[in-house]
Amino acid sequence: MASGTLHDAFVDELKDSYDSEKQLIKALKKMAKAAKHDELRSAFDTHRKETEGQVERLEQVFALLDEKVKGKHCDGIAGIIEEGSSVMDEDFDDATMNACLIASGQRAEHYEMAAYGTLVAWARILGHDEAADLLQQTLDEEKAADEKLSSLAESGINEDAASSATDDDEDLSEDAAAPPSKKSPKHGARPRVASAAPGRSARPRS
Ligand SMILES: [Fe+2]
Repeated sequence: MASGTLHDAFVDELKDSYDSEKQLIKALKKMAKAAKHDELRSAFDTHRKETEGQVERLEQVFALLDEKVKGKHCDGIAGIIEEGSSVMDEDFDDATMNACLIASGQRAEHYEMAAYGTLVAWARILGHDEAADLLQQTLDEEKAADEKLSSLAESGINEDAASSATDDDEDLSEDAAAPPSKKSPKHGARPRVASAAPGRSARPRS
């Protein structure tokens, strides 16, 4: 008969989060480097430092539970990071790259918010109030990081990206006499930019 309990699942999730924070420390370093916008770069740097604190907080939670500090490879965040790094390899203009980095960052934040939401709820129901308080602090930081990215997107980064796409359109309209075959490559790239609305459910790429 199966003997695993919610406590076992809880410890498993902690190991998963411990590994995902460590993966994110490396990813956030790369994202800060790729950002072509001072405030966005510093948002990624700030969250990387916060993430180092989140790793320590998880170590405290393991200690409170008398569990060994251990990570377990998190495939979910690895996939999100992998998608983000393929975006960084794209030949996007600077403004579009900034919008795409926000989209990738927010996907990671939402994944973490889901994980910590569960961890807080399970810690409470299992009577680990001190652990729940620590995990709640991390959840609050993830939410704040997500909101910061939304506000950066909405305070100019998306607009800059959209106007660089519009500039392409202007080039095209000047060239109105050109045969349709010449227009299609530039038009082909547009919907990806137009749909880049971080903070919303739209995904710029699949
Ligand atoms: Fe985190």
